[in-house]
Amino acid sequence: QQLIIPRNRSLPPVVFHWIPFIGSAISYGNDPLNFFFKCREKYGDVFTFILFGRKVTVALGAKGNNFVLGGKSTAFSAEDAYTHFTTPVFGKDVVYDVPNEVFMEQKKFVKVGLTMENFRSYVGMIEDEVDEFMKTDAAFLIYQMNDINEWGRFDATDVMAQITILTASRTLQGKEVRGNLDKSFSQLYNDLDGGFTPLNFMFPNLPLESYRRRDEAHKKMSQFYVDIIRKRKETGDVSYPDDEQDMISALRTQKYRDGRPIPDHEMAHIMIALLMAGQHTSSATGSWALLHLANSPEVQEALYKEQVENFATPDGKLRSMTYEEFRKLPVLDSVIRETLRIHPPIHSIMRKVRSDVPVPPTLAAPSKDGTYVVPKGHFVLASAAVSQVDPLIWSNPEVFDPTRWSDPEGVAAQAFNTYADEGGEKIDYGFGAVSKGTESPYQPFGAGRHRCIGEQFAYLQLGVVITTIIRRVELRLETDSVPEQNYHTMITMPKKPRNICFRRRNFD
Ligand code: HEM
Repeated sequence: QQLIIPRNRSLPPVVFHWIPFIGSAISYGNDPLNFFFKCREKYGDVFTFILFGRKVTVALGAKGNNFVLGGKSTAFSAEDAYTHFTTPVFGKDVVYDVPNEVFMEQKKFVKVGLTMENFRSYVGMIEDEVDEFMKTDAAFLIYQMNDINEWGRFDATDVMAQITILTASRTLQGKEVRGNLDKSFSQLYNDLDGGFTPLNFMFPNLPLESYRRRDEAHKKMSQFYVDIIRKRKETGDVSYPDDEQDMISALRTQKYRDGRPIPDHEMAHIMIALLMAGQHTSSATGSWALLHLANSPEVQEALYKEQVENFATPDGKLRSMTYEEFRKLPVLDSVIRETLRIHPPIHSIMRKVRSDVPVPPTLAAPSKDGTYVVPKGHFVLASAAVSQVDPLIWSNPEVFDPTRWSDPEGVAAQAFNTYADEGGEKIDYGFGAVSKGTESPYQPFGAGRHRCIGEQFAYLQLGVVITTIIRRVELRLETDSVPEQNYHTMITMPKKPRNICFRRRNFD
């Protein structure tokens, strides 16, 4: 059906491509940032490209982020963009398988489990897990040998993937998941994860073995959580006392606005969604942080010094941090912020357009009195990965420089504050809080109604993991420079080789 557009309104320019259905899929898939920067030179901040038959309109810059993420959910729908791909993994009746208002209620349920009180107890648990991992895993054999002159090495992402799931399950996911990590759970997780790829995103139903395994794993994983929930209900408060501080305990206590308790299968599916949402994002960020620290001995020393200055005890050891102390470590904070600036795990955020939406002329326009319109049926795409390394905004954007966050006059400080405006209410997120709302060039956790709720947990997990490692070993990069980004996975990962050499520190 032909779209009729008034004379002063036009569709955004379409990126030139040779093959109709495939369009720009190859250039976008191989290196989306390079593709977006090149398109911006040719077409400006708003343009449409073809991605396996889909029409995707990209809006770049802080204004582009605002256009997409600040858009009304009636016009720009996340569920229409994602459900085909997330529902087979997370399961029915949660997240993008329900109307947005229901998902917003589910996000609130999860927030109840992400309290300061819970976080306080998580610091020591995360430290314990990392400690135990370093004392037992083969990757840290040289560390276990106690020789401070010998260097060992590990694959940054392999190690971070393991540490992330160990620490997430010990804290948010709960002891049953942690207890099953060495057993059936890991295989189920891997099979489910095999359904979370760009191929699945583009083609929801292919007759492939990985799709069958995904579906099988979902059924078993869902049952695994349902069994935990039922067992906890049966045993009541005896084996699972009130002080149990994981997410299942938080979900069990809540009800929908209409008084309905959360059904067991929904709780199970929320748990799966949280597992998947946090795993690759945090393990990718942790890997990049360790790789940059290994490549910047001076930043690493500053981070180590911050630990020694704050936590050294008279007998020459480093004591554990409290959550309150942890939130007041500026070097650590800036290392994580800077890592997320250069390596936001999610490079493209998409919505499906439900009704024609005009592009504000301040963002882009075809002429002085004309307006672009993004028509119903298109996808819109925002990329904080572009605005976070845009040379028009940041000085030396490619350089990993955590000190840029401590310059009060700098762009970084302007793009960031510790408050988020949530429905008119100013909430102080304190440490780790990100971006001034939807119109910011810095938004690794997204913005608007779909903004990440795992942000504070991710900061806690990453911060404690990184400092626990840095307290024990000194890191050096094995290669000459930090690896390139691999965009062929859903979450931007470091390309191999990504080895880090390490040596035990004296101070222990
Ligand atoms: C949403 C990034 C960790 C749960 C998002 C979004 C981004 C993001 C960019 C917005 C997606 C969109 O608008 O389409 C990150 C990063 C993380 C991280 C960079 C770690 C470094 C976590 C963790 C959890 C989590 C640990 C769970 C505990 C969620 C949820 C949403 C979300 C529930 C909401 C999705 C929506 O409303 O549509 N995250 N995330 N994330 N994230 Fe995270």
